[in-house]
Amino acid sequence: MDRRRFLLSSGTLALACLLPVPSLAKSPVPNNLRSFDLTAGLASTNLGTDRTFRVWSYNQGIPGPVIRVRTDDVLKVNFRNKLPHPSTVHWHGLPVPNSMDGVPGVTQQAVLPGDSFTYEFPCKPSGTYIYHSHQGLQLDRGLYGALIVDDPNDSLTHDQDFVLVLEDWAMVDGGGPEAGKRKPAGRMMHGGRGMMRGPGGWSGSGPLSEPVYNAYAVNGRIYPHTKPVKLKKGEKVRLRVCNASSSTIYDLRLAGHSFTIVRTDGRPIKPVKAEVLRIGMGERYDLELVADNPGNWLLGAYESGWGESGLKLPFVYEGKEDIKPVAPSFRRGLAYPGYFDFQAAAPSTEAYQEPARWYRQVLSGGMHSPYWTINGRGYPDSEVLRADLGQVVRLAYINHSHMPHPMHLHGHFFKLVNPSLPPEKWISKDTLIVDPMQRLEVQFLADNPGDWFHHCHHLYHMEAGMANIVRVA
Ligand code: C2O
Ligand code: CU
Repeated sequence: MDRRRFLLSSGTLALACLLPVPSLAKSPVPNNLRSFDLTAGLASTNLGTDRTFRVWSYNQGIPGPVIRVRTDDVLKVNFRNKLPHPSTVHWHGLPVPNSMDGVPGVTQQAVLPGDSFTYEFPCKPSGTYIYHSHQGLQLDRGLYGALIVDDPNDSLTHDQDFVLVLEDWAMVDGGGPEAGKRKPAGRMMHGGRGMMRGPGGWSGSGPLSEPVYNAYAVNGRIYPHTKPVKLKKGEKVRLRVCNASSSTIYDLRLAGHSFTIVRTDGRPIKPVKAEVLRIGMGERYDLELVADNPGNWLLGAYESGWGESGLKLPFVYEGKEDIKPVAPSFRRGLAYPGYFDFQAAAPSTEAYQEPARWYRQVLSGGMHSPYWTINGRGYPDSEVLRADLGQVVRLAYINHSHMPHPMHLHGHFFKLVNPSLPPEKWISKDTLIVDPMQRLEVQFLADNPGDWFHHCHHLYHMEAGMANIVRVA
């Protein structure tokens, strides 16, 4: 085993990889078929506490197993549905062939209880991804996990590699969708300026309003039952932060440290030093951390508009296990880098031509209505955005609502249009938070044929209609 593979497998990964690690020796066949069994079924969890409740999960784990492959692999997942309801698996962020995308009613028939389905696709490009059920609100019952694609040609720049899956939980049987307490739909989530909450109107007790979560977990455990990240002084550590939460945007901060953001949604950016990371539902960030401040430190989170969330994770240096952990402070005005502070690591000319098609996407809903819409229409009655194969398409998001919406496009990466940078330096993403009253534009090369789901990754907004189809043909 060479150094890279050794480190990947021996690091204190909070979650185990599914398969034995293959040797790096160049294989004569360009693609290695990597086979995984993934079974969705009824399970129970206690998130590390002494209170057990019933959930739905992959392979009986919360989260599901980390699936870790390489860019020269073809991933084959034997999916079995042992749930009492139909289900699918979506490979969030990875541009897979349309028939493998796992959106019920759009790219495949949902897999019925007792049935199975084989997903098989090449794993490119490298990066940090998520997989999750795309059926209804199943994600909020526990059906998600991390998918990591390594590039064997990347030179190793870190000593340890941790996957951190962030989860919001209502600790009741059945998870979030069964929670009795609901957040009012009319609340203002945008922190700071002109706060106002629940101005009457629809009070949001229906099933499509998100729950009031009472537990925030990292890798299936809540503080103080979390498995700490163990550090040795002088190490350089890669953190792959995946927000698999259904409805929670976090501002994360690690006490005693700043970190360097090196990728967003799997795509490399020019490194940006930061004290705070903001991460929306469906987003992933790769961070580099230099372990240069021995102690026992907490990673903590602030939830925009709500205050400190209970999400905490200790980072403990060798020999410092017995000191009391120090929490980060969240003083007002402590800024996270915004999307416009990022630029692509390597200039790319993909999708930088003038767009052939433009679509305005007005995001609204919430205040006096249980529906969330794009251009006033809710899925499946929303419009179909058409693109010819090979065309560059511009989407202009205009958020007319009082909540942020992490907008996610399947099957493609889009570029964030940044007027102060030349187009070849625009960052690529697949999930982008559009803040209240904000206008953001993205464009993408429609190079993956099929009908692609495009929606807000706030699960309860998606279910309440904030979705449409991008048809590439
Ligand atoms: Cu992460 Cu349409 O999904
Ligand atoms: Cu939304």
